[in-house]
Amino acid sequence: MGGIRIVGWGTALPDKVITNADLEARLDTTDEWITERSGIRERRVGGTTTELAVGAGRAALAKAGLEPTNVDLLVLATTTPDQAVPATSAAVSHELGLHCGGFDLNAACAGFVYSLVAASGMATGHIRNVLLIGSETLSRVTDWEDRSTAVLFADGAGAVVLQAVEGPGDLLGWDLGLDGSLRPILYADLGGFIVMEGREVFRRAVRATVESATQALRRSGVSADEIALFVPHQANIRIIDAAGQRLGIPRERTAVVLDRTGNTSSASIPLALADAADAGRLSPGDLVLLSGFGAGMTWASAVVRWSA
Ligand code: UT7
Repeated sequence: MGGIRIVGWGTALPDKVITNADLEARLDTTDEWITERSGIRERRVGGTTTELAVGAGRAALAKAGLEPTNVDLLVLATTTPDQAVPATSAAVSHELGLHCGGFDLNAACAGFVYSLVAASGMATGHIRNVLLIGSETLSRVTDWEDRSTAVLFADGAGAVVLQAVEGPGDLLGWDLGLDGSLRPILYADLGGFIVMEGREVFRRAVRATVESATQALRRSGVSADEIALFVPHQANIRIIDAAGQRLGIPRERTAVVLDRTGNTSSASIPLALADAADAGRLSPGDLVLLSGFGAGMTWASAVVRWSA
């Protein structure tokens, strides 16, 4: 069996910006509280999960120099599908003009790393190019009157193109986890809004990120010192800093976009990865640690060599 490498990446964000000042004007909150407690300054809202996924997918294919007909598999990580049936990947596939298999994967904010691991395992034989997209419209499942969640969640999409290669490839090791007994601390009922016990999720998120990242590093035979870039789920800057501190990875080697994007669940890791790549923060051979956690609770980490 061969491995994969990342050959393209792209993002899509809605045009509409909602700043903390906008929220301050209509909720019992302040810019100071939101910035200090979460690190978020503004977020993007609008569009459908399909529209954002198509935008990010198209950009990633262009970066990889591939046509839609070159894609052999589509994996869409989302926790906010546009319809109950069919899967949102059906609409995304149609809009992009793909002619291949595709499916949605819902592992909440760990969805992108779950999808990366799943897609890598499938990239063999006739499956050479995989389009992997994380796309979310969390604004549609957020109660805009609830200050405890309205200040956090937002919309966006990020994508990567994976290519099958001979030999072990660039996914060096990974860890996936799920503890379904923790469903009550973060959920949205069908047709309902996100309900979250913020403090409890925070506490468990730091632990899950550190333990899962440590497992992925160990299985990869890589130490935290060797990680050029840590790309954590973008939920809260205090969670990122606490996890980074425990792992021994400083902010300078960490990708952060949540100040501009808010929490975009499955889209947050590819948005942060693409932002770092576009800013020239990644060089061939760099080792990247991706780590997400979310509703379920789920958690997932992966160590990837950047060879794009
Ligand atoms: O990606 C999915 C995973 N989700 C997360 O990772 C979120 C994890 N949790 C968090 O990021 C943080 O817990 C929050 C940002 C949600 C909250 O920060 P916190 O430091 O844990 O605050 P808290 O929930 O303990 O609330 C502190 C106070 C409370 O008031 P009292 O009880 O101390 O009087 C809240 O009612 O802040 C109040 N509060 C607010 N005040 C102003 C809650 N939301 C707001 C708000 N503006 N928007």
